[in-house]
Amino acid sequence: MRILLTGASGFLGSVFCRELSGEHEITGLCRGRQTSSPGVRALRLDLAGDRADGLALRGLLSTGGFDAVVHAAALSSPNQCQEDPGLSRRINVEATALLADLCAEGGLPLAFTSTDLVFDGQGTLYAEDAPPAPLSRYGEHKALAEQAVLARHPAGGLVCRLPLMYGRSEPGTSCFLDGLLAGVLRGEPLRLFEDEFRSPLFARDAARGLLLMLERKARGVLHLGGPERLSRLEFGQRLRDALRASGVAPALRIEAVRQADVPMAAPRPRDVSLSSARAAAFGFAPATAAQALPDVLAPK
Ligand SMILES: NC(=O)c1ccc[n+]([C@@H]2O[C@H](COP(=O)([O-])OP(=O)(O)OC[C@H]3O[C@@H](n4cnc5c(N)ncnc54)[C@H](OP(=O)(O)O)[C@@H]3O)[C@@H](O)[C@H]2O)c1
Repeated sequence: MRILLTGASGFLGSVFCRELSGEHEITGLCRGRQTSSPGVRALRLDLAGDRADGLALRGLLSTGGFDAVVHAAALSSPNQCQEDPGLSRRINVEATALLADLCAEGGLPLAFTSTDLVFDGQGTLYAEDAPPAPLSRYGEHKALAEQAVLARHPAGGLVCRLPLMYGRSEPGTSCFLDGLLAGVLRGEPLRLFEDEFRSPLFARDAARGLLLMLERKARGVLHLGGPERLSRLEFGQRLRDALRASGVAPALRIEAVRQADVPMAAPRPRDVSLSSARAAAFGFAPATAAQALPDVLAPK
């Protein structure tokens, strides 16, 4: 498949390139940082830029010969979106709407990476038809972007809601696991929420899941959640087990904290775990944390 990937220099984008560039022809769009993945054609373009960037994007999509677009560019930090909602709207909503228009014009399938944070966290194991009720600006803007994709590109738009992801980060990218490992290296105890639940997903499975959904011509809204509903504390316990099994940090301590103990700019939902039965019917079968973490921690 010939794929145009936005956000190629980000955490998920770089995992997507590393995992799939040997099997597919990937053109990776970046804004500032360049993707370093071998076998990927890298192009610089600001999706929230001026008219010239919009025209360049239009030209690229109409002449690039792509089979599909994966849109993984975003202002992905909820706290940053809360503090700069104008920038979040430009990148997360307006750039996504523009891509949806251009893909609709060109008849190109578009897989948009959304988030579990479109939900308010009062439920559990959310299905695709549960109504979004975001608590944060980030969640609100991703929900607006989802609507734009579905309304502007009904024939080829695919909204993939992703959960908290972890994996091996390329240099210059990071995921929440990196913060935990940095604490472990400093010999600090891990302080983790016991009252925040997600469906953590190995990023490699997210990349493969996005591709699978494009190959199976899935449309509409799909959840690509990990196979377990875990609190952050439980995820930390899985991490401790994997570290101990590899002989690292045998004395690692984990302390339970509650969301209310840690004030943050963006409000945090309690439980945004996802039901991914629809994706499972397409063959999506991601690894559990216990299965994936040894791979992430193994020496390169
Ligand atoms: N990470 C998670 O746990 C998680 C969970 C749920 C959903 N998601 C979603 O998954 C997707 C990927 O997330 P991620 O963690 O990989 O994000 P990330 O590491 O923050 O990467 C964001 C990417 O977007 C690019 N970007 C930002 N502003 C841009 C602009 N104006 N023009 C062009 N590119 C721009 C960045 O390019 P530069 O590097 O050049 O700035 C970078 O490549 C996002 O849609 C995010 O909302 C992520």
